[in-house]
Formats: sequence, C-alpha cells, structure tokens
Amino acid sequence: MVAQNLSASDSKVEASWFDANGKVILFGEHAVVYGVEALAAGLPAMVRARALSRNELGSSSNLSIKSKVSIPAWGLEIDAFELGSSNVLQQMCERIRQALKKEIKPFYLEIDAKVPPASGLGASASVAVAMTKALAAHAGITLNADQVNQIAYGCEQLAHGTPSGLDNTLATYGGVQRFQRVDGGVRFSVVDVPDPIELLIVLSGKKGYTAETVARVRAAREAALSKYDQLFSQIAEISSDGLNALRSCDLDKLGRLLTANQQCLREVGVSCVEIEQVIELAVSTGVRGAKLTGSGDGGAVIILPKQNISDLEQAFQQAGYKTLRAHIGAC
Ligand code: PMV
Repeated sequence: MVAQNLSASDSKVEASWFDANGKVILFGEHAVVYGVEALAAGLPAMVRARALSRNELGSSSNLSIKSKVSIPAWGLEIDAFELGSSNVLQQMCERIRQALKKEIKPFYLEIDAKVPPASGLGASASVAVAMTKALAAHAGITLNADQVNQIAYGCEQLAHGTPSGLDNTLATYGGVQRFQRVDGGVRFSVVDVPDPIELLIVLSGKKGYTAETVARVRAAREAALSKYDQLFSQIAEISSDGLNALRSCDLDKLGRLLTANQQCLREVGVSCVEIEQVIELAVSTGVRGAKLTGSGDGGAVIILPKQNISDLEQAFQQAGYKTLRAHIGAC
C-alpha cells in the first residue's frame, strides 16, 4: 500500500515528464523475427514517465523506505525492486538500474499510459523507454537515444523473451521506419511518407500476449518449415510493395496490401475471432484495407479508411469498441 501523501499532485512536484512512442506495425509482424523487413509507425507520446524524489513528494512521504512504480491507467502500483521478483515491471526496474551503473536515490516513478497493455501497440516497450529516460534523469545521467533504445531492448527481452527489437526502436525514435534484423543486429531507417495518412486503430477487446504468440509461431514453423518460410516470403514481398505505396501515398494500394498481409497472418495462425469480427465490420463499411497489428491473437486492428474517418470511428464506437486515431507520415 502506498501512503496517500505520495500523491504526485503535491505542489512541490518538479520532475520533468519523459515521452515514449507506441507503435503500429503496418507490414511484417512475426516475419520480422525471421529476418523479413517490417514497416512500422510510431504513435507519439503514448506513454510518459517522471521520477519524483522524496523532496518533490514532500517531507511527510514514506519514500525513504522503498522506491515505487505506479501506472494508474493499468491499475498498477508496486515496489520498484524486489529480490528475485518474477514481476516483469520489477525486473525492468532492476535491468535499468544495472544499465545505469549508478546509485538511484529512492523514487516514485509515475507512468502515464494512453496505450493499453497487451494490445499490439508496443505498450511494454513504450513503458521501458519512458522509464529509462525518467530514471536516468533522476540519477543525473544523460543518455542518448541509442543508449535508451539499447536499455529498452534489454527490458523487452524480459517482457517478450526473443523480441525482434522493433518495438523498442519505434518507442525510442518514432516516425515511420523500415526495420530488419540482420546478422545478429538490426537495421532501421526512416521512410519518407510525403502526405499524412490517417488510420483508425480498433481494440479487438481481447488481450494479445506477445511472448506466447511468438513462441507458438516458432513451434508451428519448426513443424512446417517450408509452409512458414513461404508465408514469410509472401509477407516480405507485401512489405516491399508497401514501402513503395507509402512513399507514393498510394492509398488504394496500401489498403490492398494491408488486407493481403492480414490473409498471410491468418495462415500464420495469429488471427482470432475477435480480430476477424473487427475486420468484418470494417469491410462491411467499405474501407480500403485492414489488418491486425502486433503479435495478434487479440490486440488491435489497423484500418485504412476510404470514407470519413469520423463516421468509421463512430460505427465502431457504436458497436462498443475502443478506438484511437493515428496519423502516420508527414503532418
Ligand atoms: O505485440 P507487440 O506489440 O509486442 O508486437 C510484436 C511484434 C512481433 O513481430 C510479433 C514480435 C517482434 O518481436 O517483432
């Protein structure tokens, strides 16, 4: 239990907020784990964090006893450190503390998350990036973006086992990025999208668990190597065509490619009833294309509208779905 006097609304609060991006994968999830180039876009400032010190919280706080982490939107408030913990957030705090190689004075880490967990929108990486920046600042350390990205990748390994590195890269740098695993490392570069493209993100209502889904795909691939490698080759081709469609802002083509990628993901085995229901509703309203984004088996769907996006959003909200709008590319 955290004492009420730890409230961040205390007038002495001074610590700065540090932002991190969420992300949508436009093309290439799962295939990216096996070396296919993916295309993804950052969702700006989906998470922010600040580390408050005892002084900033007021002299009556009990923060001298234990550092805390709070994510009110996720209903979470825990001690930051616990020896041998199996809690991923605590493991992430420990990983960051080790990476910073400096004593960190007690803190109250407040995390403001607009993105829900297990939604395919890069929530854990986004939290890792915002936490890393806030704790580094609290420890008086200046990190560059590459260092933040590296530490967040370590946190992602705790959350997801064998991540491609895409989520932490987008959480750190944002923008529209090509991302590929190469020779034990990664390669990424910004895609120049000349006009802004608006997407509707719809939460399917089912949580998608990345580590489990990635492990399931790995096992399925081992049992049917040529089928999966063929599917991943198809996704590679779609992703490469998607790059051209983005660069030329060819929305019809982009929509067709999203839908084609979704078909591959069905065959990979990571769609589910909840995702298909969202896609069905999208298709019935006459959109350009739609696909799941992230690891799937729940999580979110991205939709490229043809009609007015407000009408589309309203149709989903009336059907009881939570939605988000995203602008990718120039704005
Ligand atoms: O579900 P998310 O947002 O963690 O995205 C996972 C993307 C995968 O390609 C399935 C895995 C990875 O590490 O790239």
